[in-house]
Amino acid sequence: MRRISLLCDESRGRWRWKRIAGATVAACVAVAAAGGALVVYTGVYDVGATTQHTAFVFQLLETSLRRSVKLRTADVPEPGLDDANRVESGFRIFREHCVQCHGAPGIAPQPFALGLTPTPASLVASAQEWSPAEIHWIIRNGIKMSGMPAWQYRMDDKEIWDVVAFMKVLPTLTPADYKQWDRQHVPAPAQPAGESGPASDSGIRLGDAGAGRKALQQYLCVTCHVIPGVVGANYHVGPSLAGIADRKYIAGVLPNSPQNMLRWLRQPAEVDPLTAMPDLGISDQDARDIAAFLYTLHN
Ligand code: HEC
Ligand code: HEC
Repeated sequence: MRRISLLCDESRGRWRWKRIAGATVAACVAVAAAGGALVVYTGVYDVGATTQHTAFVFQLLETSLRRSVKLRTADVPEPGLDDANRVESGFRIFREHCVQCHGAPGIAPQPFALGLTPTPASLVASAQEWSPAEIHWIIRNGIKMSGMPAWQYRMDDKEIWDVVAFMKVLPTLTPADYKQWDRQHVPAPAQPAGESGPASDSGIRLGDAGAGRKALQQYLCVTCHVIPGVVGANYHVGPSLAGIADRKYIAGVLPNSPQNMLRWLRQPAEVDPLTAMPDLGISDQDARDIAAFLYTLHN
């Protein structure tokens, strides 16, 4: 009898302890949430790009970036990066798409890039800090809430690895070397919009609505249209795309068929020269994916 009551006392004590611990954790979470909400709603956090983040926020972002990239690149195989043609192709791409923001030995970034916060890093340092697989991931996916664009919709995988290969060489170049490269490699002729892109040289898949939903973010669709189920797509620059699957006409002029939808997405100005919908240089594959997604939007 005494043993049983002792056991009961013990378990009651443990239960009380657990309750106190639980209440303490809940109180801490509530205080932290209230503190966070206060910072957000009072507007004390300065979002201007002329003040650097506070040391705490800076560390938080820096650590999140490093951990996030590491987690996503654990075992990506690397192709051979020492090939001279690859490095040369990487240089051309770097000169066309990267030097404007990141600069190069002896070359400053463009004025607009100097005003970005976070400021684009010198890639001489980055090439030494990150592994090739990590650099490949960053170029492919970009970095949210910084000015770093995702390039996977403008370059195929080979081109991305070419840039990685060039970045490995970049730290060894003096300003004079870089100028020399610049003189040697005349820019390649520009490809007409829509002719390039990841899909044009490989087999074309049927449209995939999931991929299309992702691509919407990469072609600015979300800045002009209300698109049901897509976060941030709340703008009325163009018509709402709600129920577009059931619409009889596209933009009031083309009968609504998948073929016409592709035509509209890729060359709106060819369909209607006066339209405010811009030609966004959508690749054939991305247009198919986006169309597949649009046809899921029923009334
Ligand atoms: C519009 C400006 C812009 C362009 C164009 C741009 N970047 Fe960036 N990039 C940034 C910004 C901003 C960051 C984030 C700040 C930082 O960490 O450097 C960044 C980050 C990076 C990083 C991570 C750097 C680090 O050490 O944290 C790499 C690598 C990178 N960019 C490579 C490239 C390559 C390669 C290209 C060309 C294909 C490119 N960027 C084009 C703005 C740009
Ligand atoms: C700069 C703003 C802008 C961007 C970016 C834009 N659109 Fe549009 N869009 C418009 C305007 C304006 C119209 C109306 C065109 C007209 O009727 O001539 C339109 C019309 C359309 C239509 C026909 C709608 C209907 O009611 O018939 C579709 C579909 C469409 N856009 C899809 C897209 C997709 C998908 C993207 C991204 C790839 C995109 N738009 C990007 C402005 C934009």
